Amino acid sequence: MAAIELQDVRKVYAGNVEAVKGVSLSIPDGAFAVLVGPSGCGKSTLLRMVAGLEAITSGTVSIGGRVVNDLEPAERDIAMVFQNYALYPHMTVRRNLEYGLRNRRTPAEEIARRVDEAARILDIAGLLDRRPGQLSGGQRQRVAMGRAIVREPAAFLFDEPLSNLDAKLRVAMRAEIRRLQRRLRTTSLYVTHDQLEAMTLADVLVVLNAGRIEQSGTPMELYERPASLFVATFIGSPAMNVIPHGAAVAAGLVPQGAPEATLGIRPEHMRLVEGLAASGDEAVVDLEVSGVEVVGAESYVTGRLGSSAVEISVRVPGHSRLEPGTPMRAAGGRAAFLRFDPQSGARISAVSGA
Ligand SMILES: Nc1ncnc2c1ncn2[C@@H]1O[C@H](COP(=O)(O)OP(=O)(O)O)[C@@H](O)[C@H]1O
Ligand SMILES: [Mg+2]
Repeated sequence: MAAIELQDVRKVYAGNVEAVKGVSLSIPDGAFAVLVGPSGCGKSTLLRMVAGLEAITSGTVSIGGRVVNDLEPAERDIAMVFQNYALYPHMTVRRNLEYGLRNRRTPAEEIARRVDEAARILDIAGLLDRRPGQLSGGQRQRVAMGRAIVREPAAFLFDEPLSNLDAKLRVAMRAEIRRLQRRLRTTSLYVTHDQLEAMTLADVLVVLNAGRIEQSGTPMELYERPASLFVATFIGSPAMNVIPHGAAVAAGLVPQGAPEATLGIRPEHMRLVEGLAASGDEAVVDLEVSGVEVVGAESYVTGRLGSSAVEISVRVPGHSRLEPGTPMRAAGGRAAFLRFDPQSGARISAVSGA
């Protein structure tokens, strides 16, 4: 067990590519931290620096209170799980699980104990004599997890471990990883570009953008009180509606001459209203239906705001049968609109209840 501390960590690759631009982050002992951000924002680079697979340009990484900058990966007491599983194809599952421990000259009884324990936890005891080629994607992923578990490391590092699985299996494995981590209480740092995976797994959610931390906190903190437009639109699906100042004025959402701000409101904070049925503390916009997505129990109706290119999505219960081109009126509680600085993207309004 160990906390992971990053202090002003930077990475400049050859050719002057600054992939990580000064990241400070503290992951408490036993916590599940998820690093999320778009492709190329530096997630893998950061994880690989913690693992020791990539040299740290400046700053410090400590694991369990020990600065590990100059330690080899094998000396850092971490176990890494990759997207491509990295199993040895010619070895049985049992051999794959044993491999790292044998290399460390762990006594044979201890190896057997740990392999049996991991196989039991992961429900792969029946697969120990098979080779990776004889396993399904989900089973391979479990074996990769098993190989991390038998090491009994101070921390687990995951780099998009579920990306190669189909959608259904991904959801199942996600829940399994979360259960496993809760049970073992091993500090974990997990990288993904999938915001839903990030939301559902994290104790500590860290949004990375172009090599910098945009915001970190609990998933609901980031969802309800995003520090920036980037976080507001990255977290949540479908994404938060964004209304530029000009369009908001034209639509009568804010008075002419009001200070410039980009507005944001989530689809679930809006509803369709007939005529003037909106209440006094709601703002109303007139839209023209541009698309309907029926998800099952609910639908998302998207409408164009006036003559602008701005589209606003509204969550409605059940199966919406609105046709494109139909006029519709949507209302949202005034307190649900967030305001962002149009230049920096920083949130400038308080969030009610925050
Ligand atoms: N070995 C490398 N040499 C040079 N640039 C790299 C190398 N690895 C990654 N990069 C660059 O660093 C940035 C971050 O990459 P990466 O950490 O892989 O992002 P992510 O995992 O978030 O998709 C990207 O611009 C990428 O092109
Ligand atoms: Mg990556």
